[in-house]
Amino acid sequence: MRSLSPPPSPPGGLDVRNLTVTYGRSVRALHQVSLHAPEGGVVALLGANGAGKSTLLRAVSGTLPLRAGQVVEGMIRFGPDDLTGRSPAEVVAAGVVQVPEGRRVFSDLTVEENLRAGMLGGRRRRRAEADENLARVHELFPVLAERRRQAAGLLSGGEQQMLAMGRALMAGPRLMLLDEPSLGLAPRMTERIADVIRQIHERGTAVLVVEQNAALALELADHAYVLEVGRVRLSGPSEELSRTDEIRRLYLGEQPEGEDELSSSEPREPARWAG
Ligand SMILES: Nc1ncnc2c1ncn2[C@@H]1O[C@H](COP(=O)(O)OP(=O)(O)OP(=O)(O)O)[C@@H](O)[C@H]1O
Ligand SMILES: [Mg+2]
Repeated sequence: MRSLSPPPSPPGGLDVRNLTVTYGRSVRALHQVSLHAPEGGVVALLGANGAGKSTLLRAVSGTLPLRAGQVVEGMIRFGPDDLTGRSPAEVVAAGVVQVPEGRRVFSDLTVEENLRAGMLGGRRRRRAEADENLARVHELFPVLAERRRQAAGLLSGGEQQMLAMGRALMAGPRLMLLDEPSLGLAPRMTERIADVIRQIHERGTAVLVVEQNAALALELADHAYVLEVGRVRLSGPSEELSRTDEIRRLYLGEQPEGEDELSSSEPREPARWAG
Protein backbone atom coordinates (compact mmCIF):
# COMPACT_ATOMS: atom_id res chain seq x y z
CA MET A 1 0.00 0.00 0.00
CA ARG A 2 1.12 3.52 -0.64
CA SER A 3 1.99 5.72 2.28
CA LEU A 4 1.07 9.37 2.77
CA SER A 5 4.58 10.64 1.95
CA PRO A 6 5.94 10.28 5.48
CA PRO A 7 9.24 11.92 6.43
CA PRO A 8 12.19 9.58 7.02
CA SER A 9 11.33 7.07 9.68
CA PRO A 10 12.79 7.92 13.10
CA PRO A 11 13.68 4.84 15.11
CA GLY A 12 11.81 4.03 18.24
CA GLY A 13 8.43 5.76 17.90
CA LEU A 14 6.98 7.81 20.76
CA ASP A 15 8.53 7.57 24.18
CA VAL A 16 6.92 9.36 27.11
CA ARG A 17 8.86 9.10 30.37
CA ASN A 18 7.75 10.06 33.86
CA LEU A 19 5.50 12.81 32.58
CA THR A 20 3.87 15.06 35.15
CA VAL A 21 1.49 17.77 33.95
CA THR A 22 -0.32 20.36 36.05
CA TYR A 23 -3.03 22.90 35.32
CA GLY A 24 -2.62 26.13 37.24
CA ARG A 25 -1.26 25.68 40.74
CA SER A 26 -3.37 22.90 42.08
CA VAL A 27 -4.57 20.43 39.43
CA ARG A 28 -2.13 17.62 38.76
CA ALA A 29 -3.60 15.95 35.68
CA LEU A 30 -0.76 13.48 35.01
CA HIS A 31 1.64 12.01 37.49
CA GLN A 32 4.82 10.23 36.38
CA VAL A 33 3.23 8.70 33.31
CA SER A 34 5.38 6.57 31.01
CA LEU A 35 4.14 5.23 27.69
CA HIS A 36 5.59 3.86 24.48
CA ALA A 37 3.96 3.90 21.05
CA PRO A 38 6.20 2.00 18.63
CA GLU A 39 6.85 3.10 15.07
CA GLY A 40 3.98 1.84 12.91
CA GLY A 41 1.97 0.36 15.79
CA VAL A 42 -1.48 1.09 17.21
CA VAL A 43 -1.72 1.89 20.91
CA ALA A 44 -4.95 2.58 22.82
CA LEU A 45 -5.35 4.81 25.83
CA LEU A 46 -8.32 4.04 28.07
CA GLY A 47 -9.60 5.60 31.26
CA ALA A 48 -12.61 7.24 32.86
CA ASN A 49 -13.59 10.88 32.37
CA GLY A 50 -10.94 13.18 33.78
CA ALA A 51 -8.27 10.45 33.92
CA GLY A 52 -5.85 12.60 31.90
CA LYS A 53 -6.09 11.02 28.44
CA SER A 54 -6.54 14.27 26.51
CA THR A 55 -3.90 15.93 28.67
CA LEU A 56 -1.39 13.28 27.60
CA LEU A 57 -2.15 13.78 23.90
CA ARG A 58 -2.02 17.56 24.29
CA ALA A 59 1.30 17.43 26.12
CA VAL A 60 2.73 15.41 23.21
CA SER A 61 1.29 17.68 20.51
CA GLY A 62 2.30 20.89 22.29
CA THR A 63 -1.31 22.03 22.63
CA LEU A 64 -1.76 22.23 26.40
CA PRO A 65 -3.69 25.43 27.17
CA LEU A 66 -1.28 28.34 27.27
CA ARG A 67 -0.37 29.43 30.79
CA ALA A 68 -2.70 26.95 32.53
CA GLY A 69 -1.16 23.66 31.38
CA GLN A 70 2.44 22.84 32.14
CA VAL A 71 4.80 19.90 31.84
CA VAL A 72 6.57 20.06 35.18
CA GLU A 73 8.57 16.86 34.93
CA GLY A 74 9.49 14.17 32.45
CA MET A 75 10.38 13.81 28.82
CA ILE A 76 8.65 13.27 25.48
CA ARG A 77 10.71 11.89 22.61
CA PHE A 78 9.74 10.88 19.10
CA GLY A 79 12.54 8.93 17.48
CA PRO A 80 15.59 11.18 17.67
CA ASP A 81 13.55 14.33 18.46
CA ASP A 82 12.96 15.73 21.92
CA LEU A 83 9.38 17.03 21.81
CA THR A 84 9.17 18.16 25.43
CA GLY A 85 7.72 21.66 25.55
CA ARG A 86 7.84 22.10 21.76
CA SER A 87 5.36 24.25 19.84
CA PRO A 88 2.52 22.56 17.91
CA ALA A 89 4.19 23.46 14.59
CA GLU A 90 7.49 21.91 15.68
CA VAL A 91 5.71 18.74 16.74
CA VAL A 92 3.92 18.49 13.38
CA ALA A 93 7.24 19.07 11.61
CA ALA A 94 8.69 16.16 13.61
CA GLY A 95 5.94 13.94 12.14
CA VAL A 96 3.32 13.89 14.91
CA VAL A 97 -0.22 15.19 14.33
CA GLN A 98 -3.20 15.35 16.63
CA VAL A 99 -6.89 15.08 15.81
CA PRO A 100 -8.35 16.77 18.88
CA GLU A 101 -11.45 15.89 20.85
CA GLY A 102 -14.48 17.51 19.20
CA ARG A 103 -12.93 17.58 15.70
CA ARG A 104 -12.65 21.36 15.34
CA VAL A 105 -12.87 21.83 11.61
CA PHE A 106 -13.02 25.37 10.20
CA SER A 107 -16.78 25.48 9.58
CA ASP A 108 -16.79 28.45 7.18
CA LEU A 109 -14.01 27.09 4.99
CA THR A 110 -14.69 24.51 2.33
CA VAL A 111 -13.74 20.87 2.80
CA GLU A 112 -10.77 21.29 0.46
CA GLU A 113 -9.61 24.49 2.17
CA ASN A 114 -9.68 22.61 5.48
CA LEU A 115 -7.59 19.82 4.01
CA ARG A 116 -5.05 22.17 2.47
CA ALA A 117 -4.77 23.98 5.83
CA GLY A 118 -3.37 20.69 7.15
CA MET A 119 -0.29 21.26 5.02
CA LEU A 120 0.43 24.65 6.56
CA GLY A 121 1.40 23.32 9.95
CA GLY A 122 3.57 20.66 8.36
CA ARG A 123 6.88 20.78 6.62
CA ARG A 124 7.26 23.13 3.71
CA ARG A 125 6.10 21.21 0.67
CA ARG A 126 5.94 21.53 -3.03
CA ARG A 127 2.50 22.01 -4.50
CA ALA A 128 2.81 18.67 -6.27
CA GLU A 129 3.33 16.98 -2.95
CA ALA A 130 0.24 18.69 -1.53
CA ASP A 131 -1.82 17.51 -4.51
CA GLU A 132 -0.50 14.00 -4.09
CA ASN A 133 -1.45 13.91 -0.41
CA LEU A 134 -4.85 15.38 -1.22
CA ALA A 135 -5.44 12.60 -3.75
CA ARG A 136 -4.55 9.99 -1.14
CA VAL A 137 -6.83 11.54 1.45
CA HIS A 138 -9.62 11.50 -1.14
CA GLU A 139 -8.89 7.84 -1.80
CA LEU A 140 -9.25 7.12 1.91
CA PHE A 141 -12.34 9.32 2.32
CA PRO A 142 -14.23 9.53 -1.01
CA VAL A 143 -16.91 11.68 0.64
CA LEU A 144 -14.34 14.46 1.11
CA ALA A 145 -13.78 14.52 -2.65
CA GLU A 146 -17.51 14.61 -3.35
CA ARG A 147 -18.02 17.47 -0.89
CA ARG A 148 -14.78 19.32 -1.64
CA ARG A 149 -16.50 22.66 -2.33
CA GLN A 150 -19.02 22.47 0.50
CA ALA A 151 -18.59 24.42 3.74
CA ALA A 152 -17.16 22.07 6.37
CA GLY A 153 -19.78 23.18 8.90
CA LEU A 154 -22.47 21.50 6.79
CA LEU A 155 -20.94 18.04 7.10
CA SER A 156 -22.36 15.45 9.50
CA GLY A 157 -20.49 14.61 12.70
CA GLY A 158 -18.95 11.51 11.15
CA GLU A 159 -17.94 13.37 8.02
CA GLN A 160 -16.37 16.10 10.14
CA GLN A 161 -14.38 13.42 11.96
CA MET A 162 -13.18 12.17 8.56
CA LEU A 163 -12.27 15.71 7.57
CA ALA A 164 -10.32 16.25 10.79
CA MET A 165 -8.45 12.98 10.21
CA GLY A 166 -7.89 13.83 6.54
CA ARG A 167 -6.54 17.24 7.45
CA ALA A 168 -4.09 15.65 9.90
CA LEU A 169 -2.97 13.19 7.21
CA MET A 170 -2.14 16.05 4.84
CA ALA A 171 0.98 16.70 6.92
CA GLY A 172 2.24 13.17 6.10
CA PRO A 173 2.56 12.10 9.75
CA ARG A 174 4.52 9.18 11.20
CA LEU A 175 2.27 9.21 14.27
CA MET A 176 -1.36 10.26 14.59
CA LEU A 177 -2.86 11.10 17.98
CA LEU A 178 -6.62 10.54 17.92
CA ASP A 179 -8.78 11.82 20.75
CA GLU A 180 -12.14 10.01 20.94
CA PRO A 181 -12.73 9.60 17.20
CA SER A 182 -16.04 7.75 17.63
CA LEU A 183 -17.57 10.15 20.15
CA GLY A 184 -21.24 10.74 19.35
CA LEU A 185 -21.19 8.67 16.17
CA ALA A 186 -23.69 5.99 15.19
CA PRO A 187 -22.37 2.38 15.15
CA ARG A 188 -22.03 2.28 11.37
CA MET A 189 -20.02 5.46 11.23
CA THR A 190 -17.89 4.22 14.15
CA GLU A 191 -17.12 1.06 12.17
CA ARG A 192 -16.18 3.19 9.16
CA ILE A 193 -13.80 5.30 11.27
CA ALA A 194 -12.29 2.09 12.70
CA ASP A 195 -11.70 0.86 9.15
CA VAL A 196 -9.90 4.04 8.28
CA ILE A 197 -7.71 3.77 11.39
CA ARG A 198 -6.74 0.27 10.21
CA GLN A 199 -5.89 1.63 6.76
CA ILE A 200 -3.84 4.50 8.19
CA HIS A 201 -1.91 1.93 10.19
CA GLU A 202 -1.46 -0.29 7.12
CA ARG A 203 -0.01 2.69 5.27
CA GLY A 204 2.74 2.93 7.87
CA THR A 205 1.53 5.64 10.25
CA ALA A 206 1.51 4.79 13.95
CA VAL A 207 -1.67 5.61 15.91
CA LEU A 208 -2.19 6.50 19.56
CA VAL A 209 -5.95 6.46 20.10
CA VAL A 210 -8.04 7.58 23.06
CA GLU A 211 -11.37 5.83 22.76
CA GLN A 212 -14.48 5.58 24.92
CA ASN A 213 -15.49 2.42 23.09
CA ALA A 214 -13.06 0.11 24.91
CA ALA A 215 -14.00 -3.01 22.94
CA LEU A 216 -13.21 -1.23 19.70
CA ALA A 217 -10.00 0.30 21.05
CA LEU A 218 -8.73 -3.06 22.27
CA GLU A 219 -9.60 -4.64 18.94
CA LEU A 220 -7.72 -1.97 16.98
CA ALA A 221 -4.65 -1.69 19.19
CA ASP A 222 -1.73 -4.05 19.73
CA HIS A 223 -1.06 -2.53 23.11
CA ALA A 224 -3.11 -0.51 25.58
CA TYR A 225 -2.69 1.68 28.64
CA VAL A 226 -5.32 2.41 31.26
CA LEU A 227 -5.06 5.75 33.03
CA GLU A 228 -6.65 6.29 36.40
CA VAL A 229 -6.60 9.74 37.99
CA GLY A 230 -3.46 10.74 36.12
CA ARG A 231 -1.48 7.53 36.63
CA VAL A 232 -0.95 4.43 34.51
CA ARG A 233 -3.03 1.81 36.25
CA LEU A 234 -2.59 -1.06 33.77
CA SER A 235 -0.76 -1.62 30.51
CA GLY A 236 0.01 -4.53 28.25
CA PRO A 237 -0.84 -6.27 25.00
CA SER A 238 -4.52 -5.60 24.19
CA GLU A 239 -5.29 -9.28 23.97
CA GLU A 240 -4.00 -9.88 27.47
CA LEU A 241 -5.69 -6.80 28.90
CA SER A 242 -9.06 -7.77 27.45
CA ARG A 243 -8.85 -11.01 29.42
CA THR A 244 -8.25 -9.35 32.80
CA ASP A 245 -11.22 -9.21 35.16
CA GLU A 246 -10.77 -5.50 35.75
CA ILE A 247 -10.95 -4.59 32.08
CA ARG A 248 -13.80 -6.98 31.42
CA ARG A 249 -15.86 -5.61 34.26
CA LEU A 250 -15.10 -1.90 34.10
CA TYR A 251 -14.51 -1.31 30.43
CA LEU A 252 -16.16 -4.11 28.52
CA GLY A 253 -19.23 -4.39 30.72
CA GLU A 254 -18.83 -8.15 31.17
CA GLN A 255 -19.30 -10.34 34.17
CA PRO A 256 -16.08 -12.34 34.65
CA GLU A 257 -16.60 -16.08 34.96
CA GLY A 258 -16.97 -17.52 38.42
CA GLU A 259 -18.05 -14.23 39.93
CA ASP A 260 -21.34 -14.33 41.82
CA GLU A 261 -24.03 -12.21 40.34
CA LEU A 262 -26.22 -10.46 42.86
CA SER A 263 -29.20 -10.63 40.61
CA SER A 264 -28.82 -12.60 37.44
CA SER A 265 -32.25 -11.56 36.21
CA GLU A 266 -31.36 -7.88 36.22
CA PRO A 267 -29.84 -6.70 32.95
CA ARG A 268 -26.45 -5.11 33.35
CA GLU A 269 -25.59 -1.85 31.61
CA PRO A 270 -22.16 -2.05 30.00
CA ALA A 271 -19.71 0.34 31.68
CA ARG A 272 -19.34 3.12 29.15
CA TRP A 273 -17.89 6.55 29.45
CA ALA A 274 -19.98 9.58 28.93
CA GLY A 275 -18.75 12.21 26.51
N1 LIG B 1 -7.64 23.72 31.08
C1 LIG B 1 -7.74 23.08 32.23
N2 LIG B 1 -7.63 23.75 33.41
C2 LIG B 1 -7.73 23.10 34.59
N3 LIG B 1 -7.91 21.77 34.72
C3 LIG B 1 -8.02 21.05 33.59
C4 LIG B 1 -7.94 21.66 32.29
N4 LIG B 1 -8.09 20.69 31.35
C5 LIG B 1 -8.26 19.54 32.03
N5 LIG B 1 -8.21 19.74 33.38
C6 LIG B 1 -8.32 18.72 34.42
O1 LIG B 1 -7.32 17.76 34.23
C7 LIG B 1 -7.80 16.44 34.48
C8 LIG B 1 -7.61 15.56 33.25
O2 LIG B 1 -8.42 16.07 32.19
P1 LIG B 1 -8.42 15.43 30.73
O3 LIG B 1 -9.22 16.33 29.87
O4 LIG B 1 -7.03 15.14 30.33
O5 LIG B 1 -9.18 14.05 31.00
P2 LIG B 1 -9.72 12.97 29.98
O6 LIG B 1 -9.21 11.66 30.44
O7 LIG B 1 -9.42 13.37 28.59
O8 LIG B 1 -11.30 13.03 30.25
P3 LIG B 1 -12.57 12.86 29.22
O9 LIG B 1 -12.77 11.38 29.08
O10 LIG B 1 -13.68 13.51 29.96
O11 LIG B 1 -12.23 13.55 27.94
C9 LIG B 1 -9.25 16.62 34.90
O12 LIG B 1 -9.30 16.64 36.30
C10 LIG B 1 -9.62 17.96 34.33
O13 LIG B 1 -10.63 18.59 35.09
MG1 LIG C 1 -10.54 13.85 26.94
